[in-house]
Formats: sequence, C-alpha cells, structure tokens
Amino acid sequence: MMETVTLANGVKMPILGFGVYQVTDLAECEKVVSEAIEVGYRSIDTAQIYGNEEAVGAAIKKSGMPREDFFITTKVWISNAGYEKAKASIEESLKKLQTEYIDLLLIHQPFNDYYGTYRAMEEYYKAGKLKAIGVSNFYPDRFIDLSEFAEVVPHVNQVETHVFNQQIEPQKIMKEYGTQIESWGPFAEGKNDFFTNETLAAIGEKYQKSIAQVALRYLIQRGVVVIPKTINKDRMIQNFDVFDFSLTAEDMTTILALDQKESLFFSHYAPERVKLLASLGK
Ligand SMILES: NC(=O)c1ccc[n+]([C@@H]2O[C@H](COP(=O)([O-])OP(=O)(O)OC[C@H]3O[C@@H](n4cnc5c(N)ncnc54)[C@H](OP(=O)(O)O)[C@@H]3O)[C@@H](O)[C@H]2O)c1
Repeated sequence: MMETVTLANGVKMPILGFGVYQVTDLAECEKVVSEAIEVGYRSIDTAQIYGNEEAVGAAIKKSGMPREDFFITTKVWISNAGYEKAKASIEESLKKLQTEYIDLLLIHQPFNDYYGTYRAMEEYYKAGKLKAIGVSNFYPDRFIDLSEFAEVVPHVNQVETHVFNQQIEPQKIMKEYGTQIESWGPFAEGKNDFFTNETLAAIGEKYQKSIAQVALRYLIQRGVVVIPKTINKDRMIQNFDVFDFSLTAEDMTTILALDQKESLFFSHYAPERVKLLASLGK
C-alpha cells in the first residue's frame, strides 16, 4: 500500500504521485499515464494549462480500475480566475477528466482574482465535487493572506521544492495552518547538475539507490508530497521504488546543507515574471 498523508479534512493523499507537466502530446500523455498506473502510481498531477487533462482522464478510464482508487489533482489557470469563470472552468476540468469529482483542485498561480476563484472552489468542495482544495506557488505572504480570510483553509500548497530550494520556513508556516506542502520539481528538472550531484550520489551508494531516489526519499521523510515526472518507464519504476530504505539523521543533515533557499526557476515576486505570467493569463 502506498504511504499517504492525511489532509486537514481527513482526506488521504498518496505521498508519491506522478506529474505530467510538459507531456503535451495527448497520445503520449495517455500512454505514459497508463504505464505509470501499471507501475503502481495512483495519484496523477495535471493542470488545465498543461493541455492534457483529457489524456489523464482517458488513461484512468482505460485502466478499468475503480475511480476511488485514484487521486487526481488539477489546477485552475490564471485566465480562468474569478468566481463565475472558475465555476465554468471546474465544469470543464470535470468533463475532460471524465469524472464526477476531483480529489484536489489547486489555484495554479497567485495572480488575478484568486479570491473569486477560491470562493467557487469552496462551493464545489461543499457540494462534494472537490474532495480537497488548495493553492500552488503561494509564497508565505499570499498563503497567509488567503488562509486568514478564506472559509476553508487551503488543504495543500504546491510549491517548488527540491534539495536546492527546500522550503523549510514556508513548510513551518503551512504546518501552522494545517496545510500540506507538496513539491513540484522534486528533481529541479535537472537544473544545477542535479542528476550528477556528488553529495546525493555518495549517500545513494550506501543504499544502492540513485540520486533521484535519494532526493525523493529526503522529501518524503520531511513529510513533503512528491510528484516526479518522467516519460520513461524504467525511471517511473525507479522513482516509485523509494519505500524500502531510510535516510539516517546524519544523511538528512548533510542534504539540508544543500539548501540555497531560493528558486532555481524564477521568483513569484519578480516584477518582470509577474508581468509575463499575467500576459499568459489574459
Ligand atoms: N504548480 C506548478 O506551478 C508546477 C510547476 C512545475 C511542475 N509542476 C508539477 O510537478 C511535476 C514534477 O515537476 P517537473 O516535471 O517540473 O520536474 P521534475 O520532476 O523535477 O523533473 C523532471 C525531469 O527529470 C527527468 N527524470 C525523471 N526521473 C528521472 C530519473 N530517475 N533519472 C534521471 N532523470 C529523471 C525527466 O526526464 P524524462 O521525462 O525524459 O525521463 C524530466 O526531464 C510536474 O510534472 C507537474 O505535475 C507544477
């Protein structure tokens, strides 16, 4: 059985799932999700803006397994922000995913009228069409703001989290509010020579595990939900095989020292980046 975390509302979420960002070809996406299901993944992370919700829905349908066996996450894009638009957007995601409910719906980015979006999400949550709701890319300031004023405190906040940007302080703040941290980019998409990192390689050697496996194990032991992405079946198997070893307290301290405490992608505070994201959301 896959290890789970229990969200503030009692919903159980697998601690390891499968991400499908940048798998834009629908046939390919359906194929890799089907393979991931064969390997044992039951939690799939997609988003409207990835353009592959229908492929995820199709792969799940084709598996022939009961819907309740799966945990599906999708996200509302900036262009669908606001109460009315978000409601239509949720309906569209439900349709594309061929499902009666979504396990976790996130606001993808902290821009535009996300309060309106969130109110629509709260409504669908109360109606049982969303089993849990949350946010993504909300840094502590916006996360606290929404958590203080929303009726339902976000169950999850999905943020860039990997060994080079560990989110130690933000995770503490999320915990104060009972919010589960979820990592995107657990391998930093390979940035900063991630896949040849000597510290992780040396630790992996002790356990006959790869750099990728050590990095996932580290986050899992910190209580962070992970959703690594790969289109390669051998890597799907590898990334799934992280529950038969444990890092020691010393290993954990060694990896903690890799933290640079900043994004390897971009800051959601950077004015030029905010302008760019806003332009993509119109
Ligand atoms: N909320 C957000 O704003 C946001 C942003 C980014 C990502 N996400 C979510 O988080 C998921 C994961 O993040 P990500 O896809 O950006 O990056 P990631 O999982 O950190 O890295 C994926 C990259 O690592 C490679 N890889 C995977 N497993 C490997 C292994 N065992 N050994 C060597 N290379 C390996 C993959 O290549 P191959 O595919 O060629 O194997 C791919 O290039 C996404 O798919 C998406 O669902 C969310």
